[in-house]
Amino acid sequence: MPIPHESVPAQSLLDAAVAASQKAGAILLKYAEAGFHIDYKNPINLVTDADRAAEQCVIDYIQTRFPTHRFLAEERGPVEETPSPYLWIIDPLDGTTNFAHGYPAYCVSIGLEYKSRCILGVIYDPSRNELFTAIENGGAQLNSRSIHVSNTITLDRSLLVTGFAYDIRESPRNNLDHFSKFALKAQGIRRTGSAALDLCYVAAGRFDGFWEVRLHPWDMAAGSVIAREAGGQLTDFRGRDLTIYGQELVASNGHIHSAMLEVLALEESR
Ligand code: IPD
Ligand code: CA
Ligand code: CA
Repeated sequence: MPIPHESVPAQSLLDAAVAASQKAGAILLKYAEAGFHIDYKNPINLVTDADRAAEQCVIDYIQTRFPTHRFLAEERGPVEETPSPYLWIIDPLDGTTNFAHGYPAYCVSIGLEYKSRCILGVIYDPSRNELFTAIENGGAQLNSRSIHVSNTITLDRSLLVTGFAYDIRESPRNNLDHFSKFALKAQGIRRTGSAALDLCYVAAGRFDGFWEVRLHPWDMAAGSVIAREAGGQLTDFRGRDLTIYGQELVASNGHIHSAMLEVLALEESR
C-alpha cells in the first residue's frame, strides 16, 4: 500500500500519463468511427459519451497505479478531500465541438500538480498520433523529440490563436474586442477549437502566441507545462504569473509577449 505522502519518481508519473492518454485517445477514435450520443450543457456546449468514457479510462488507469492521488476532471466534478499532494487535472476530450462534427482537432489532456504546482503535462492528439509531453525542468517533447517555441520577433509577423467560451452569447467578456484588435495587428489568427492543442502548438513553434479568457483549469494544466518547458512565457493579461485557476491566459514565444499584453491592456481599459 503506498504511503499517502510518498514522492513518486517523475518517470513513473509520466509513463502512467502517457499510457492513459493513449488508451483514452484510442477510445475517442473508436467513438468517432462507431458513433456517439450528444448531450447539451447549453445550446453550444456539448458533451458526448466519448468524453465520459475517455475520462473514466484515464482516471481508472492512473488511480490503479496511484490510489491515494486526487483528481480534478471536467466531467467528474469536485476534487475528493484526501491529503495527497498530487492532483491530476484531466480534460478527457479537449475540442468536443470539433469531435462532434468530425473535424479532427481534439486531444486528451492530462496535467499533474504536486503541492499546487503544475509539474507534468501530457497531451495526445489521436488523429495525428502526436504526443506532447513535459516534466518540470525536463524540456518539452513531441513524439519524444525536443520542441521549442518560435523565434518570431514582432506581432505583425506572428500567427496567433485564440478561442471563445461557451457563454459567448451572454458574457460581456466574450473576447470579440480582443479578437478584432489582434486581427489588425497580427499576420494571422486561427481558432482551432482546442485550447490544449493551442498551447502545444505554441510550444512547437507552430503558433507564436495564444490568448483566451474564461478557460478552465483542465484546459490549461497540461499545456501550460508543455509551453513553459518549450521556452514559452505564460501570464495573465496583466503580465502576472499564470494561475490555471485564473481563467485568462497569454502564452507566447516570449519575444512578442509584451506586445500582446499591450493590445489586451488597451481593450481591458476601454
Ligand atoms: C474548449 C476548447 C476551446 C476553448 C473553450 C474550451 P472543450 O474545451 O478548449 O478551444 O475555446 O474555451 O472550453 O469543451 O472542447 O473541452
Ligand atoms: Ca476543454
Ligand atoms: Ca472537454
